[in-house]
Amino acid sequence: MLKILTIVGARPQFIKAAALSHAIAEHFSDAVHEDILHTGQHYDDAMSEQFFTELDIPRPAFNLNVGSGPHGAQTARMLAGTEEVLTNGHYDGVVVYGDTNSTLAGALAAAKLHIPVYHIEAGLRSFNRDMPEEINRVVTDHISTLLFAPTHTAVANLEHEGFDNESIIFSGDIMLDNVLHYANKNIDNGDQIILATVHRDFNTDSPERLTKILSALDAIGKQYSLPVIFPVHPRTKKAIEHIGGLGRYIHIQPVQPLSYLDTQTMLHRSQIVLTDSGGLQKEAFFCGKPCVILRPETEWTEIVDAGAAITADANPNQIISACKALWNKSITAPIQFGDGHAALKILEAILQKQHCV
Ligand code: UD1
Repeated sequence: MLKILTIVGARPQFIKAAALSHAIAEHFSDAVHEDILHTGQHYDDAMSEQFFTELDIPRPAFNLNVGSGPHGAQTARMLAGTEEVLTNGHYDGVVVYGDTNSTLAGALAAAKLHIPVYHIEAGLRSFNRDMPEEINRVVTDHISTLLFAPTHTAVANLEHEGFDNESIIFSGDIMLDNVLHYANKNIDNGDQIILATVHRDFNTDSPERLTKILSALDAIGKQYSLPVIFPVHPRTKKAIEHIGGLGRYIHIQPVQPLSYLDTQTMLHRSQIVLTDSGGLQKEAFFCGKPCVILRPETEWTEIVDAGAAITADANPNQIISACKALWNKSITAPIQFGDGHAALKILEAILQKQHCV
């Protein structure tokens, strides 16, 4: 029996981990034992607990409860806590997801203890080292044993950086597993909306950028006579309070962070999505919705290349004209992201690497 520790801590990781846990339960319950370690990076119910309940994710065996703090201090607390769990736990491998501080801490703790690291969503690059996520993903890739790339662009990025070909595996995108798994579940038809989210530090921590984005969202809601549904991340909530609230943006309807299935419902009701989130960009594409990316660049270049998204940064004119260009645009199927069986491929490759098959 292969014993793995899955490290999660932030909202998008719970969603990705659900797909892997479901695949273990359905296909590999005799071969793989998984424990989940929650770092506690995200701790509000709406950012954490509701995903475990709704997506039926096994309860974490460990919770480090690190909470928030400066990057160094937050990552250090995770590193120490994970090291302790790994030292006592006799794990054969550690699974980490994406690019958060929890990813970096988990990978680093394991690598130092010579425990194989399996990085899901490897090889993504924004080529913007001002982003904490870019530092996290580059470092994590370089200390990982197997690199599970969601796209061929990610594979090419890793090849370009000189990784051994045997360590790179094109798995397809694990978020597509979920979208297909939950398709048709609880997705009702409601009135049309515009869906918008903002949470990247470079957008929330700059009052000027945040104000420009909010003004553009409000203008778009007015122009198309549709409500802009705006699930507010805790970081963004604090930033909005700091600039005097949302009172003057009457077309923006703020709501609590949504559950996974409510997000899928909102996506289906959307005419268009405006976001700086990587995950939501993809989910919009997966369900055939155009997307305006509120960043200067994206790691998911396939979506832009497919004509389904435009990077518009925090520039109101660019955001408004991107919306116009994409309005009513029909979007082709997301073949670039694999076949929706990423979790199975990942588990097979891990078992093979560990000579369990
Ligand atoms: C983190 C990830 C980012 C990911 C995002 C998903 C890093 C560097 N960034 O960003 O890649 O896209 O999660 O949401 O790891 N907060 C709460 N309640 C919570 C969680 C956070 O109030 O449940 C507050 C924190 O106190 C902090 C702020 O939100 O002030 C930011 O949280 P943090 O975990 O540092 O990063 P995110 O912006 O969520």
